[in-house]
Amino acid sequence: MGAALSLNIAEKGFGIAVFNRTVATTHSFYENAGDLAQKITPCDTLESLVASIRPPRAIILMVPAGDPVDQQIAALRPLLDDDDLIIDAGNANFHDTNRRVAAAEDENHPFLGIGVSGGEEGARHGPAIMGGGSEASWQRVAPILEAIAADYEGAPCATWLGEAGTGHFVKTVHNGIEYADMQMIAEIYGVMRDGLAMQPAAIAEVFTRWNDGPLQSYLIEISGEVSRAVDPETGKPLLDVILDKAGQKGTGRWTAIEAQHLGAPIPSIEAAVAARNISARLAARKIGGDIYGEPSHDAESIDLDLLERALIAGKILCYAQGFDLLKAASDSFAWNLSLPDVARVWRAGCIIRSSMLNDMASAFTDEPDTNLMFASRFVSLLMENEASLRSLVAKAAAAALPVPALSSALSYFDMMRMQRGTANMIQAQRDFFGLHSFERLDREGSFHGPWAES
Ligand code: 6PG
Repeated sequence: MGAALSLNIAEKGFGIAVFNRTVATTHSFYENAGDLAQKITPCDTLESLVASIRPPRAIILMVPAGDPVDQQIAALRPLLDDDDLIIDAGNANFHDTNRRVAAAEDENHPFLGIGVSGGEEGARHGPAIMGGGSEASWQRVAPILEAIAADYEGAPCATWLGEAGTGHFVKTVHNGIEYADMQMIAEIYGVMRDGLAMQPAAIAEVFTRWNDGPLQSYLIEISGEVSRAVDPETGKPLLDVILDKAGQKGTGRWTAIEAQHLGAPIPSIEAAVAARNISARLAARKIGGDIYGEPSHDAESIDLDLLERALIAGKILCYAQGFDLLKAASDSFAWNLSLPDVARVWRAGCIIRSSMLNDMASAFTDEPDTNLMFASRFVSLLMENEASLRSLVAKAAAAALPVPALSSALSYFDMMRMQRGTANMIQAQRDFFGLHSFERLDREGSFHGPWAES
């Protein structure tokens, strides 16, 4: 990612000094940089890196999140002038960024935490950049970050979103949404594979076709490509030789943890994280299969139109949860985060880019603080597709096809429009065993049930 970002910066005409702690990596990067090498100064030591940059400096760190970032800052700071700016462009936990910004500001040093999305390809040719830290520090480097960012109809996908760890929080939620988006697509793939007995090549055609419709997105596009790919070693469809065990570096889990702290409901994202965790329980799943057997997955009554519509509804509900979490964080931390800005910065360059995000940007511009499922632009789309989501979840359950993210999205929808919910039962139980009290529908105050008197 660091190498790709450096080439991107050089290509946009900016001079850049680069350093990697493995000297040979720096040299081979420089030797392979082609014409762009003229803009690049390879450095073997941090001292020579700092000496190669004209003050006031801006130094981008692209190292694994956690301790390596603190170690790199500790190594760099003594070599820098007070107003030299350090920018952490990794996937940091926003609590770490809050701490690093506060520590830097205590010593009158500028520090930015920026979320960069788009993978290796995005970093090289145009990522989405979510900025956090002081706005004045952002302005110092905005011309470079805007030049290297993805472009959406003339607007750069690089935006300052708020103080301290705001940018990294938004990037974390981006990844949480990414997990749910990917999980929902995987669930739909599972219905096609196991319920409809479709081969990967046929599944590829479906995803590719959907990419021309309301589901147009990078993730749908690559789902078509990976479904079409053939394993060069065996000649089999590549998907059929890949172990069904998902990796994760932690940003989905962070999203779920922060949502719990904030009391923000994001059941589809939590379901996606849980699904990755279950996927890793290979030995336990083997025992489960041996004890309970492999059920019949006959789902012939599910058609492809139903699947597309269900995915449209699921996707809207998943983004509704993600944006609602951003709003909860913004309210709780007084960030004044602009949801239209977030939707706009995600329209190009990042992994979750999609045509629907442009509509989301417009929806939040019209109704800034709404839940997406109440935004007028999305109400009609949800009404048109909700029945398909319901039908798919019911049919998938009957055919023992797990669709946890999609079914959580449906339950979220049903609960979010249920005017008389079932938490009265929870309150009565809490009061029964712990005298926690409850409120009443018919008058104000705090009450106990008759058991309190015994
Ligand atoms: C991006 C991605 C990226 C992330 C990978 C892997 O926006 O470019 O989100 O930041 O690191 O997708 O994440 P997991 O290993 O957790 O799936």
